[in-house]
Amino acid sequence: MPDAKKTEKIKHRYNRIAKLYDVVEKPMENMFSKHRKEMLRNACGNVLEVGVGTGKNFHYYPDNVEVTAIDFSPKMVKIASEKAKDLKNIKDVLEMNVENMTFADNTFDTVVTSCVFCSVPHPVKVLKEIKRVCKNGGKVLMLEHVKSNKPVLAPFMDILNPVPFHLYGANINRDTVDNLRKAGFKNIFVEDLWLDILKLITIRNDK
Ligand SMILES: C[S@@+](CC[C@H](N)C(=O)[O-])C[C@H]1O[C@@H](n2cnc3c(N)ncnc32)[C@H](O)[C@@H]1O
Repeated sequence: MPDAKKTEKIKHRYNRIAKLYDVVEKPMENMFSKHRKEMLRNACGNVLEVGVGTGKNFHYYPDNVEVTAIDFSPKMVKIASEKAKDLKNIKDVLEMNVENMTFADNTFDTVVTSCVFCSVPHPVKVLKEIKRVCKNGGKVLMLEHVKSNKPVLAPFMDILNPVPFHLYGANINRDTVDNLRKAGFKNIFVEDLWLDILKLITIRNDK
């Protein structure tokens, strides 16, 4: 499938689920919220959040940061913008594709992603874009689920993958840590939060 068509298809799936997203994800959120909090206490300065969805992270940012959030789904952006209205540290919520961001090189002190790399159509390309817009010595903070390395789980996740992909546009068998290396990141610190599937990844962006 051509790249542009693949992107449109995934965008369409997130537009379709946007209104129901918080309800559908609620059972997972009990586990996720504490990890969001843990990750975001390390955010500092001028922050970019990519694939913001409905803005689930907004309440966990420290007061003294300034967040710009982007998503390519206009329906997600609309919901996140509503949530941001009363929050002084959320500066902008913009409709933008993370594959081709309009920000200048070295703009952000921190880049944040949560549950985004299951769904971005071209993960290595996106990670290179993140590397570009993040300052030298800046941080990339990621809360991501990936494919397990365990011999029983790994093939099972491959078999199951078409189900979330067709519902959401989300893959459960991505190797995000390997993709980070492919994109040129070096200082990658990985903490397993649930089995070897849910990970808190902290990266220092040395250029
Ligand atoms: C699984 S949701 C996660 C939302 C949010 N980060 C969270 O933690 O709940 C993935 C989000 O990434 C967005 N997304 C996927 N690919 C994107 C791209 N290329 N550019 C911008 N946003 C993208 C989707 O529209 C969706 O809102």
